[in-house]
Amino acid sequence: MIMNDKGANIVQQSLARWDIDLFSSAFKKHAYSIYKDLRANSPVHPVNIPLERKAWLVTKYDDVVAMLKDHRLTMDARSDCRTGPLPPFVEKKYLSTNMLSSDPPDHTRLRKLVQKGFTPRMVEGLRERIEKIAQTLLDQVQDRKQMDLIEDYAFPLPIIVICEMLGIPSEDRDQFREWSNTIVDTTNHPEKFQMFSQQVREFTQYLQEMIEQKRKYPEDDLISRLVQVESEGSHLTEAELSSMIFLLIVAGHETTVNLIGNGGLALLEHPDQMEMLKSAPDLMEQAVEELLRYYSPVELATNRWAKEEICLRDTVISKGDMVIASIASANRDEEHFECPDELDITRRENRHLAFGQGIHYCLGAPLARLEGQIALSNLIQRFPDLRLGVSADALRWRPSYLMRGLKTLPVLL
Ligand code: HEM
Repeated sequence: MIMNDKGANIVQQSLARWDIDLFSSAFKKHAYSIYKDLRANSPVHPVNIPLERKAWLVTKYDDVVAMLKDHRLTMDARSDCRTGPLPPFVEKKYLSTNMLSSDPPDHTRLRKLVQKGFTPRMVEGLRERIEKIAQTLLDQVQDRKQMDLIEDYAFPLPIIVICEMLGIPSEDRDQFREWSNTIVDTTNHPEKFQMFSQQVREFTQYLQEMIEQKRKYPEDDLISRLVQVESEGSHLTEAELSSMIFLLIVAGHETTVNLIGNGGLALLEHPDQMEMLKSAPDLMEQAVEELLRYYSPVELATNRWAKEEICLRDTVISKGDMVIASIASANRDEEHFECPDELDITRRENRHLAFGQGIHYCLGAPLARLEGQIALSNLIQRFPDLRLGVSADALRWRPSYLMRGLKTLPVLL
């Protein structure tokens, strides 16, 4: 414990000063130094989460791994162990009855229905198409002096890919983005529940119409195949079908946009690493792993609740308490990574947790990796003099609870 000259606990003061409001932009801005404080002084830290009786933020690598793999935690907010009202998102069974909100055996059944479409071999078959999408997007900005890396490149690329896989018109993407951003940014944020309800209604209606359309006119795409499974009977309910499509749309683009955006930012902030990558393009696979570690696109793992009492270090997590595992913090844990705050695209020991761990390990990891590698390779090949278009201080992180991603990233071409 560190005391100041008046005997007050400096660490407590500094934590109080940060106030650990996971929804604030101040937290997003200073998160990495707050995590460092927490790992050293309060690795299982109480935080206030609306509608939750008690919540714990877990920040050390080994604890995050343990929590992500612990079957005594449930992903199901409707579980009996949890008391209090349900967050509005969870009330909507047409969005929240998906694999990321379920435990086995439902989780196993739901994941099995789609996992064949996301294996490394299946994803490798998309390489040419992803290259083409990246090049077309870059052609569109070729003659300009600057672009917003998020708006013009990082956002459209993954959403076009996932829309094509699902069989959804990618022209609707701006509409999804608005719905999806609101839902992801406002989950657990009571002041914004009102706005949230409207977006949830519209998104649900869109999904219902899409499903109806595929029922009448099936095509060779993932939604048509899932509609087929649902109509055959016992494997998938209507709410699960709609929630699955919702999850794939949201997970398919809310995350990868941040890998491309944050990855671009990290390279621009570290010109030596950018130069190394330009002169050795074969480093790209390794570089993407380091970028995933350095600015992890998913900052906090999905909410989990204790089904029974759990002891973690010297903290007792009671039945019904929420556990929030910080992936971003684990990926900067000094006990696990050498010089964790340095970006080193040649890092060898890099068992980062950006895609989670255990049974909920990211289904789309092979796709996200390929999209990230292709997007960044094409970007730096096409625009070797790429520079930040504003000072790094002027950049703002989205005030998102779960994700780490920039609002905009102006760059000079
Ligand atoms: C850089 C991009 C991505 C990152 C960093 C990422 C990260 C994650 C993480 C951390 C989890 C586990 C969450 C938890 O256990 O609480 C997860 C789960 C998941 N991800 Fe991703 N993801 C990315 C891209 C994608 C893509 C492109 C898809 C494709 C649709 C996808 C689909 C999923 C699905 C379906 C799950 C739930 C798996 C389950 O519950 O079994 N993700 N992702």
